[in-house]
Amino acid sequence: MCGIVGYVGGRPCRDLLIAGLEKLEYRGYDSAGLSLLANGRIDSVRAVGNLANLRAAVADELDEGAVAVAQTEATIGLAHTRWATHGRVTEENAHPHSDEDGDVHIVLNGIIENHSELRAELRAEGHKFSSETDAEIVAHLIEGHYDGDLTAAVRAAFAELRGHYAFVAMHAEHPETLVGARNECPLVVGVGDGETFLASAIPAFLRETRSVMGIENDEIVTISPGGVEVTSAAGEPRSRELQQVTWDEEEAERGGYSTFMMKEIHEQPDAVAETITDRLPEVDEVDLSELSISAEQAQRFRRIVIVACGTSYHAGLVGRYAIETWARVPVEMDVASEYRYRDPVVGPGDLVIGITQSGETADTLAAMRLARERGAHVLAITNVMGSQATRDADSVLFTRAGLEIGVAATKTFTSQVAAIYLLGLWLAQSRGCIDRGRIAELIAELKALPRKIGETIESTDAQVRAVARGHYQGRFFLYIGRHIGLPVCLEGALKMKEITYIPSDAYAAGEMKHGPIALLDETTPVVCVATDSPVLEKVLSNVAEVGARGADVIAIATEGSEIVSEAADQTLFVPRTDWILQPILAVIPLQLLAYHTARLLGLNVDQPRNLAKTVTVE
Ligand code: F6R
Repeated sequence: MCGIVGYVGGRPCRDLLIAGLEKLEYRGYDSAGLSLLANGRIDSVRAVGNLANLRAAVADELDEGAVAVAQTEATIGLAHTRWATHGRVTEENAHPHSDEDGDVHIVLNGIIENHSELRAELRAEGHKFSSETDAEIVAHLIEGHYDGDLTAAVRAAFAELRGHYAFVAMHAEHPETLVGARNECPLVVGVGDGETFLASAIPAFLRETRSVMGIENDEIVTISPGGVEVTSAAGEPRSRELQQVTWDEEEAERGGYSTFMMKEIHEQPDAVAETITDRLPEVDEVDLSELSISAEQAQRFRRIVIVACGTSYHAGLVGRYAIETWARVPVEMDVASEYRYRDPVVGPGDLVIGITQSGETADTLAAMRLARERGAHVLAITNVMGSQATRDADSVLFTRAGLEIGVAATKTFTSQVAAIYLLGLWLAQSRGCIDRGRIAELIAELKALPRKIGETIESTDAQVRAVARGHYQGRFFLYIGRHIGLPVCLEGALKMKEITYIPSDAYAAGEMKHGPIALLDETTPVVCVATDSPVLEKVLSNVAEVGARGADVIAIATEGSEIVSEAADQTLFVPRTDWILQPILAVIPLQLLAYHTARLLGLNVDQPRNLAKTVTVE
C-alpha cells in the first residue's frame, strides 16, 4: 500500500514530486524518498517518518550540494512513500533503490515473491545489496539486462519476477524516459502538456492534469515528455485511449468511491494478496520464519489463547476453527477487555495471540502484557509496524492491508483472517499433523482467495443494495449461523450496528429456540450464513424454523448450493472454496449490507457517531 509518483517533462520536478506524495499520504507510510536525474547523474534523498522529514532531508542535501538534488531544474524524477513490509523502517530500506553504481533507480509497490532466490543469483554474479528489501533486487536485475534500451531491460527483469507489484525505473543515460511495469498493483499515467506522470494513483497528479491512462496487468509502459508507449510483457504494442477524470481532489483520494469504507472494501483482494503472497513460497509450504518460533517450540505449545477486541476478536474466532482443525491444538478465545480481570491461568507452554489492527488497543495490549509476564509466548497480529503491540510481543505477524481510514474495519478484518489461516497451516505443518497433499490443496485455495474476494464484491454488490432497500427502515436485524458461520454473523451484526445504528444481534442458530426466536415476526430480516460446512443441514433446519415465524430470510450460500436458495427468501452466493476458508468470502456481502443500509439512511459511514478508529483507553 505504498505510493509511487514519477515525472518527466519540462518543469523542475522536485517539489512537484513531493506535492504528489502528499496526495498519497492517505494510503499510510512510514518513510519516503525521491531520486532526481540531472547532468547524467541521479541523486536520492530518503527519510524515515513523514514528508516533513523528507523535505528537511532534501534541504540538508542542498546544503551539502548533492548534484541532482541541488539542481532545482532537474526535470525527471521518481518518488515513493513506503509502508514497510520487507525489512524494517529505516532510511536504507526506504525507496528509491538503485544498483551499486547508481545508474538505475526504481520505486516499487507490492511484493516480489521470489526475491530470495533472485538475490542469491545476483549475489553469485557479484551484485552487492545495501538494503533488506525485495525491491532493491529489481534495480540490480534491470542493470544486469541493460544494454542501452531501458524498456527492454525492464521487460527482461519483469519476466524474472513473481509476485504482486508495480514499479517504475529511471536510468542515468535516459534523461527523458521513465519505464513502469505492472503486475496486480495499480499504475496510472497522467498526460499533460509536454510532461507525463506515472503514479500508483490519480491523486498524485490530479492538480496537474486530468488526462489519464490506466496500465493493465502484465504491461510495460514507457513515458517521455511528449508521449506514452504501452506494450505487453512480451513486447506487443497496446493502444489505449486517454480518459478525462472529472473527480474533485477529495473524490480522487477515495479513488473515485464515494466513501473510504467502499474504497477499502474494494481493496480487500489486494490486502489479502499482500498478506499471504510471499509467505507461501512453495506449493506445499508455509514460511513464517519471521515469527522466530522453531518447529520444536511450535510442537511444545499446549494451548493457544487468542485475545482481541471487536472485529479483531471475530477474526480470532474464525481462526480458532482453522487452527483447531488443522493443527489439533486447543484454542481459547478471550475478549481482551475482560481477560486480565479474571486472573487467567496462563504461562509457559501457552501461545497467546493478540490481534489488533492498530497495534494500540489498550485492552489488547494489557492482556498481552499480562500473558507475557506469566511466561506465555506472545504473538501479535497487527497491521502497523512500530506499533506498541510489536514492542510488547515475542513474535509479530504483520497483516499488509495498508492504512484503513474508515472507522469500520473491513480490509483489516479479511487480512487478519488470512494471516490466521497462514498461522494455522504453519502450526499444522510444524507440528506434523497435516500431510503435504492437504497443505498443497489449502495453499492453492488460499492463493485463489484474492480473486474470489474480488468476484464476491462484484457479483453481490447490486443484489445486496436491493436487499438493503427492502430493509433499511427496519427496527432490527438478526444474524444466525453455526460453526464457522457464527463469527461471520457476529462481524456482520457489529458492522450493522456500528454504521447504521440499527439494533442487530448475532446468535448461534441452534440457540434460537432457547429465547431469541421470540423476537421474530414478518418484519424481521434474518441474515443466515449457510455456506458449505459439515453443519449445513442443521443450519437449514434453523432457516426453516425462522422462516416459519414469517421472518424474511436472507441467506449467504456457496455458489451452486440450490438447497439453500430453496429454503431462503433471498440468497447471496459466494464462490466455492475449502469450507474452512468460506468465512473470508461470506463476510463480504455482510459488509456491503451494513454499508448500503447506512448510505440509504444518509449516514456518514467513514466516521460513525461515538467511535474512534483506535481505542487507546482501557
Ligand atoms: C469495528 C472495529 C473495532 C475494532 C476494535 C479493535 O469495525 O473497527 O471493533 O476492531 O476497536 O481494534 P484493533 O484491531 O485496532 O485492536
